[in-house]
Amino acid sequence: MDREELRRQLAFYKDLGIRTLYLPERAGQVEVARVEEAATPPPGPDSGWEDAALKAEVSVKPVDSKMFSALFQPDAGADSLDRIQQDMGDCRRCRLCEGRNKIVFGSGNVGAKLVFVGEGPGADEDEQGLPFVGRAGQLLTQMIDNTALKEGLAVRRGDVYICNVVKCRPPGNRTPEPDEMEICGQFLLRQLMVMQPRAICALGSTAAKALLGAREGITKMRGKWHQWREIPVMPTYHPSYLLRPYNQNAKREAWEDLKKVLHYVYDEPPRPLSDF
Ligand code: URA
Repeated sequence: MDREELRRQLAFYKDLGIRTLYLPERAGQVEVARVEEAATPPPGPDSGWEDAALKAEVSVKPVDSKMFSALFQPDAGADSLDRIQQDMGDCRRCRLCEGRNKIVFGSGNVGAKLVFVGEGPGADEDEQGLPFVGRAGQLLTQMIDNTALKEGLAVRRGDVYICNVVKCRPPGNRTPEPDEMEICGQFLLRQLMVMQPRAICALGSTAAKALLGAREGITKMRGKWHQWREIPVMPTYHPSYLLRPYNQNAKREAWEDLKKVLHYVYDEPPRPLSDF
């Protein structure tokens, strides 16, 4: 990797809001490359940015520069879902690998105009290696299929793409830790960069936080359009939350949110976001 390529790659990740790069396992250890300094050049034309970037490279050299570049994929045109999955491999980059059965990468139409992002796999997903196949997943399927049907849109669950912020099941279905989100989030960002959907629906606060750095709760954010790298993002409630019997009001709201998203993405001819 030459100087210029490294600079471009670090700049790309900095632009995505990533400050730390986590490298694959080697010799039983998880190697962590801190590129915070390298990714934050001081202002000014001759800022020493390249030297800092090179220092970051030096610190990861023992790992294997091929593994290093596997995480970097600055040119979205050259990246692909297959390549991302290949780079993920039998991932051991964080503690979530310890209890997982299967990595849940994502499923659905790889050319989808709409991507749903959940939090992380549950027990059923961990067993099958597919996202949203348990109870919450069945509700999500119903929500997509029934809303589209009612609204006269020819869309079904198989037409969209579904994935999660973390690809391995957190033990006991706990919320993913910030470092787990940061590590795995790099793959999510690449998935979205490759797919370039017309819109993203963030299911629950973990997905909203991963995509939007949200500090507000999901109740405040839902129902309104936000943006991730110029792609409209609609945060809404997570289907697991809607399964609780006392959240019936939220269910109605989530249906409204989904209606907006489906119409924005699938109405023909397309209408501007401001219409929704
Ligand atoms: N909950 C999620 O957030 N994702 C899944 O895949 C299943 C349940």
